[in-house]
Amino acid sequence: MENFTFYSPTYFVFGKDQETAVGTYVKRFGGSRVLVHFGGGSAEKSGLLNKVRQSLRDSGLAFVELGGVQPNPRDGLVYQGIDLCRKEGVDFILAVGGGSVIDSAKAIAAGAVYDGDFWDFYEGRTVTEALPIGTVLTISAAGSEGSGDSVITKEEGMYKRATTGEALRPKFSILNPALTQTLPAYQTACGITDIMAHLYERYLTNTKDVEVTDRLIEALLLTMIKEGPKAVADQNDYQSRANIMWAGMLAHNNSCGVGRSQDWTSHNIEHELSALYDCAHGAGLAVVMPAVFTYNLHHDVMRFAQVAVRVWGCQMDFAHPEETAKAGIEALRAFLKSIGMPGNFAELGAKAEDIDELAHKCCWGDVNTGTTGGFVPLNEDDVKAIYRLML
Ligand code: NZQ
Ligand code: ZN
Repeated sequence: MENFTFYSPTYFVFGKDQETAVGTYVKRFGGSRVLVHFGGGSAEKSGLLNKVRQSLRDSGLAFVELGGVQPNPRDGLVYQGIDLCRKEGVDFILAVGGGSVIDSAKAIAAGAVYDGDFWDFYEGRTVTEALPIGTVLTISAAGSEGSGDSVITKEEGMYKRATTGEALRPKFSILNPALTQTLPAYQTACGITDIMAHLYERYLTNTKDVEVTDRLIEALLLTMIKEGPKAVADQNDYQSRANIMWAGMLAHNNSCGVGRSQDWTSHNIEHELSALYDCAHGAGLAVVMPAVFTYNLHHDVMRFAQVAVRVWGCQMDFAHPEETAKAGIEALRAFLKSIGMPGNFAELGAKAEDIDELAHKCCWGDVNTGTTGGFVPLNEDDVKAIYRLML
């Protein structure tokens, strides 16, 4: 295991109806003038926003609102949010929604206290200072409720890029699994896929002797395999949603990723797809992951065989371990299909003729420097070959 530091100071409030106390948490973490940030309508329709407004009023907090965050959030709204925070003297941002809303809130939080262009942070500058943020989570997926990460798309050129920084970790996150019961089955499945991807990105490591984090990841993958289909089949299954919600947080606050190198190839390759086609991030990952794993299989056959045996229940073939490894990838593919995820380019709405552009942007776009991936550094030709495996 490698040396590491780990600071995850988010205060989690988990369970039914906890959002009704959101005002007390904003106050507790120093907010007095709040920006309530939300998405395209689901939180209004479900009545959640009214509960949040009431709680803020009950706590005597002043607030302004900025809605309209779209999935795969854009820089345009971030600039609006930064202006609004400065004009209104906002000192706390409350994100009510999913990963897109939370990521947009994080970008505004960093940009509002920075003299330059907030996009600098998405071109490699580390965030060291930001307005405090809190979240009321409505979808288990991105894990942004516990992470220091944010992903934004720059409309000019459609570059989807990430930043990170301890200052971006939410001060508190309210996790009420019942709030996810209004999600369509497809979005629930996209979230499950994203959570599994966050686990695989950490599992695919070149660091030796990482038994504790291997085992944590395996436990969370097994949880998703057991609970995921239940949540997709029955919107009102609170208990499966509760298990998935906490798994989603644990999968991405880096408890499972410390002390080991990580991969992130699948995410980097997927981000080009959701930037170009505006598909759901989880749906993109469902198509990308089996292709990336197949391409990288021979880099460490035993690692893929290990997850196949321990998570997917495959029989170890000691004479031909690559057969076991491949069986694990096929089991993942079949699982994703069973929960309604797309399996190839066409089902995702992607086009073969765009492969050259996708691969070029993935390796060279914006500030990228020619290769992608922490498990196996892949060049543009490798990435093209991976996209072709998805046809
Ligand atoms: O906008 P509204 O109307 O709220 O609708 C949303 C949206 O259409 C809807 N939704 C959310 N909660 C709902 C609901 N509909 C009904 N009932 C509810 N309770 O679901 C749709 C998707 O929402 P979104 O926030 O986009 O989903 P997700 O949480 O998957 O976030 C995706 C974004 O997060 C980024 C992705 O790249 C993508 O841009 N990621 C962020 C990460 C991070 N910050 O750490 C890591 C991830 O790997 C990921 O890259
Ligand atoms: Zn993700």
